[in-house]
Amino acid sequence: MTNNLPNYLIISSAINADINALIASINPDKIAVLVDENTKLHCLSEVNFNWDLIIEISSGEKEKTLDTCKNIWTELTNAGFTRKSLLINLGGGVIGDMGGFAASTFKRGMAFINIPTTLLSQVDASIGGKLGIDFNGLKNHIGLFQEPNAVIVDPKFLKTLPERELKSGFAEIIKHALICDEDHWKHLLSQPFENLEWNKIIPKSISVKNDIVNQDPREQGIRKILNYGHTIGHAIESFFLNTSTPMLHGEAVALGIILENQLAVESGLFDEKSANQITGYIENIYSFPKDLPSYNDIKNHLMQDKKNDSEGVRFSLLNKIGSCTYDVLIDSEILKKVLK
Ligand SMILES: NC(=O)c1ccc[n+]([C@@H]2O[C@H](COP(=O)([O-])OP(=O)(O)OC[C@H]3O[C@@H](n4cnc5c(N)ncnc54)[C@H](O)[C@@H]3O)[C@@H](O)[C@H]2O)c1
Ligand SMILES: [Zn+2]
Repeated sequence: MTNNLPNYLIISSAINADINALIASINPDKIAVLVDENTKLHCLSEVNFNWDLIIEISSGEKEKTLDTCKNIWTELTNAGFTRKSLLINLGGGVIGDMGGFAASTFKRGMAFINIPTTLLSQVDASIGGKLGIDFNGLKNHIGLFQEPNAVIVDPKFLKTLPERELKSGFAEIIKHALICDEDHWKHLLSQPFENLEWNKIIPKSISVKNDIVNQDPREQGIRKILNYGHTIGHAIESFFLNTSTPMLHGEAVALGIILENQLAVESGLFDEKSANQITGYIENIYSFPKDLPSYNDIKNHLMQDKKNDSEGVRFSLLNKIGSCTYDVLIDSEILKKVLK
């Protein structure tokens, strides 16, 4: 499969030349750069362009709120930013989603460029145009679809990323390979995690997501296969959220992949040998909590999932490696058996 990247996305090996060329083409009256304390420390020194304002927010999902947006809008307003200005979002998915949302709504929309600095944001949040914030405890509850003026992906930012964050982002790469790209899956299997070459793997993974999003930009059908691993994954992530051992999103998704494969096997959709191969691969990379939630612990989370209706819980499940179906209704007996 050849890589098919969105036209606004650049895989960069000379990031400063690329940023400055983009700035020249946008020709903004002012430039702000949005960072958190980690990307200010590790990533800002890697980029070189002239900015008028640095907006620093605290890191973490808990900051992805309307209050933080208010601070961003206030800083932009106080510094005299206009609709012809540019915001450069330098950070992970929190910075990209929220910075993009703040820019798209500031004076009905100013230009913005996302420079994703985590693996997760490079292979997932960078494509598909979803922007937004959490609201009243509900994830991504307020937002819009809007593509950035540009996204610049440079694997060099991953050097300073904590290993847990790297592995968390890698779960989305595993997902993309399993749902659409058997060759990529074989490539992942062929070498240890530590030896993977990000400059080859990232564009492949982006290409899978881009193909799916292009077929179904508003998630009416096929785009739902991107939820593979996420129905149980989200429920497990929510379960651990307020405990002393919260799981990262991708860690929960990796576990979700294992468990949803078991649903597919129990339903006669997917073969057990392939499911075991995937489980072995994932367990080799990730370490999971010893005490996992049961069906009763997470059934409320599962039912709340936006994808469900009164008939039961619907899943995106593999029918073979490289092929995924969606809207598969699974009855609660099979769920109870797998989540025992
Ligand atoms: N828009 C989409 O389609 C989409 C898709 C997937 C996820 N998301 C969103 O993305 C968010 C998660 O993104 P994330 O996993 O990148 O989390 P994040 O933005 O919270 O970043 C994770 C941590 O890594 C730090 N960090 C970032 N880059 C670094 C670097 N190069 N070196 C060292 N530390 C660095 C951050 O400061 C943070 O502490 C969620 O809010 C999720 O909803 C959006
Ligand atoms: Zn995800």
